[in-house]
Amino acid sequence: MTIDYASRIPNNVNLHENKTLQRALESWQPKYLEWWKEMGPEGSVGYDAYLRTAVSVDAKGWAHFDYVKMPDYRWGIFLAPPEANRTIGFGTHKGQPVWNEVPGEYRSTLRRIIVTQGDTEPASVEQQRHLGATAPSLYDLRNLYQVNVEEGRHLWAMVYLLHAYFGRDGREEGEGLLERRSGDSDKPRILGAFNEKTPDWLSFFMFTFLTDRDGKYQLAALAESGFDPLARSTRFMLTEEAHHLFVGESGIARIIQRTVEMMKEHRVEAPDQLRRLGVIDLPTLQRYLNFHFSVTLDLYGSEVSTNASNFYSMGLKGRFQENNITDDHVLTSTQYPLPEISAGQITHKPSSALGTLNERLRDDYIVDCQAGVDRWNKVIEKAGLPDRLTLPHKGFHRQIGVFAGQHVSPDGKVLTEAEWKAKSPQWLPSEADHAFVQSLMKRVVAPGQYAGYIAPPMRGIDNRPADFTYVRFN
Ligand SMILES: [Fe+2]
Ligand SMILES: [Fe+2]
Repeated sequence: MTIDYASRIPNNVNLHENKTLQRALESWQPKYLEWWKEMGPEGSVGYDAYLRTAVSVDAKGWAHFDYVKMPDYRWGIFLAPPEANRTIGFGTHKGQPVWNEVPGEYRSTLRRIIVTQGDTEPASVEQQRHLGATAPSLYDLRNLYQVNVEEGRHLWAMVYLLHAYFGRDGREEGEGLLERRSGDSDKPRILGAFNEKTPDWLSFFMFTFLTDRDGKYQLAALAESGFDPLARSTRFMLTEEAHHLFVGESGIARIIQRTVEMMKEHRVEAPDQLRRLGVIDLPTLQRYLNFHFSVTLDLYGSEVSTNASNFYSMGLKGRFQENNITDDHVLTSTQYPLPEISAGQITHKPSSALGTLNERLRDDYIVDCQAGVDRWNKVIEKAGLPDRLTLPHKGFHRQIGVFAGQHVSPDGKVLTEAEWKAKSPQWLPSEADHAFVQSLMKRVVAPGQYAGYIAPPMRGIDNRPADFTYVRFN
């Protein structure tokens, strides 16, 4: 499973043994680079960024850190090693050997799953492309680039599968992935949250904490797939994804840190006073959290989904940590609580577990988010302040499923439209919030210096010192 870096396309899949596939990918490569030039991080060409590159797929020590001249990052195809005698863990094929070719009857379904996942990867790069101009430090700029190049690699991971297993259709989908654009009204990206703007670094950190975490859960469900190349591909993507989540969580923690320091030092609580001190008040953080959380929850789709139950029964997409769940892994007679609104109340009723797999994955995701929010609250608690951030109720501000068209408050009360209109401005970021956060966005490039709204990190990337030059502009 060693990675061949001598080839034009680094890979650990013996690409040189399949000339047709190699040629197809080599003809996609310049189109990818064109896309990167047009839609990748703005103004980054020629910079030396201190980045990690995968040098193996071992869980330990897979990454090598060094300066990489943008955009000469070696995007490649890396699959986790195959597991000997792996069998399908769920659905109607449970117990059968995993597939190394696409089962004919599932071909179009599987292609759709891969394209939908693949589409999110370049979308986030597009959403984040302007952020380099306002990076709060070289450390953060480097992290942005790291996230961006790895999302680019995740696109490679999916395009490899499309080219290798789906023939001409797959190659066409590979082109389509470079043609859609985040937020474009004619050719939008497939999923809603990936067409939202990421206009500032608070949004970026919320996105990497919340929306990349959706990525983690989707990838984890695909890592269970009976189609082994997909499982192995997503398993390695998950190792990279962990850093993106770290960037988001630690980014918000550092913003909170700075805010609570100012609250203590100046003995102020009022948002406008804190804003005058150049930090982001906690109510504004809460509103951003509410927005990004609710938009990301929609990515899981409707609570009741025939698609999701088909994907599961077909053995294509499992549950989060399927192997750790103790049930029959077929789910035809298992139940799961389904939320519903009746008589102005949110209640749950037992429903088919097979029919509600989206809801289950969303609930697993929420538990993970809550753990992160708890760690943020520790920062506030340590400062001796009583304020806390909270995740809104999962029905808050939803556009898809049971809660779509309903008005649910962050604490889970069903409101009338009039109540919602009166109260929702305190729960979602306003124009003024966006303008204030935008006013803080100034690029800081001196090594070891940080914008005033964010604390330095606890430790450097790859244990580098605090004043390390993570990006050289040359
Ligand atoms: Fe990704
Ligand atoms: Fe990511």
